[in-house]
Amino acid sequence: MIDANELQRKRFERLRAFDSGERHEARTSAEPQAMYVGLAETSPVFRSADDAVTLLRMDDILFVNKHRDVETTAKYLGSNRVAIPLGLDGAEHTKYRRLLDPVFTAKRIAPLAENVRALADELIDDFVDGGQVDAYKAWCEPLPSTIFLSIMGLPLDDLDDFLRFKNLTLNNTASEQPSVEEYLAKRAEAVEWIQAYFNRELDRREATGKAGDDMLGWLLTSEVEGERLTRENILDILGLLMIAGLDTVAASLACFLSYFARHPDHRAQVLADPGLWPSAIEELMRFESPVTDGGRRAVRDLDLPSGERIAAGTYMHISWSAANVDPTHFPDPLAVDLRRNPNKHIGFASGFHRCLGSHLARMEMHVAMEAWHRRITDYRIAPGVELEYSGNPRAPHRLPLVWG
Ligand code: HEM
Repeated sequence: MIDANELQRKRFERLRAFDSGERHEARTSAEPQAMYVGLAETSPVFRSADDAVTLLRMDDILFVNKHRDVETTAKYLGSNRVAIPLGLDGAEHTKYRRLLDPVFTAKRIAPLAENVRALADELIDDFVDGGQVDAYKAWCEPLPSTIFLSIMGLPLDDLDDFLRFKNLTLNNTASEQPSVEEYLAKRAEAVEWIQAYFNRELDRREATGKAGDDMLGWLLTSEVEGERLTRENILDILGLLMIAGLDTVAASLACFLSYFARHPDHRAQVLADPGLWPSAIEELMRFESPVTDGGRRAVRDLDLPSGERIAAGTYMHISWSAANVDPTHFPDPLAVDLRRNPNKHIGFASGFHRCLGSHLARMEMHVAMEAWHRRITDYRIAPGVELEYSGNPRAPHRLPLVWG
């Protein structure tokens, strides 16, 4: 078996190689899109020194995402455990998607919209009169994490602990880039904390015989192919849901507010016509691509649509960000068109591992962005602030805005 620490180490080093010099600056800047177009033009498949590749073209990525001779490499936060369902392939993966898909359909998610609206407004109440805020810390970050805790059925008082967990598992911004050792140590600490936390909560529910009318209760009582989930299965599902759910929506909201703060013309468009929000969000998902990339491995030799051959065993770093500005799929990809239609971006991936939480994420982003723009309309980045974006998910973790 591949050692997960080794896998993480390689992934981290590879990102460093891909990110060196100008590319690093571009990737962690507010506007990396032109860099991706340029990079894909010169080398649609970027090869790093250790023979790993980065795929940048939409056709190649769509091909790989639904190819049975490709496996995922997702481990549970760098432990040797498999993240469910992202670390599974083939029939095992299908088995868990069948279990989880019905819980995250648009219909099941819709009733949560009222909670999201109320919470978005409540958070805004705290700072709207002050005329300034670090929007990431005060709004983008707590909003989806609080909703997520309530879906899970966990105490909202634990929010700060969960945010700490999230931040231990994140790629930091360039200026706080840890060494590989620090990064692995932080992840190990995060795994230990989250496992102990969930084990305590699951033990408590089992001891009282009350599973609970929430996501944790549902997992405790669900069956897959006639069998109850094991404790390890539950932990591996919860771990992935936490990573996928806590940070991605926060990052997306921060990318969107930052974009509109810097582009008042586009902001005026949605303010004048709030019916534009759904397509505006899709366009910003495409352009901003808050989740930038994923990892795969070729099980056998692959001949990509771009004509490149990938040898069996090669690690593939898949750039959703680059595919989303591929000029062969999007006319004028560097222009933001809030009415773009069709808009087949892959900000939520595609193929077997397309995002399980996309309906939840879309609903949260739509409701939250509407709520913000009903209350705060003329905001801009605070004077003198240069935004710095994290790697993946990409977001300005400090987003000082001013208005009024
Ligand atoms: C705007 C927010 C979000 C974005 C941009 C996003 C993006 C993605 C992407 C790109 C993938 C594919 C990862 C890969 O193949 O390496 C993915 C998978 C996944 N996402 Fe999301 N996601 C978001 C929100 C969520 C939320 C809120 C949840 C919680 C339910 C979630 C749960 C998952 C799961 C479980 C997978 C793995 C699916 C599988 O392996 O079959 N995501 N997401």
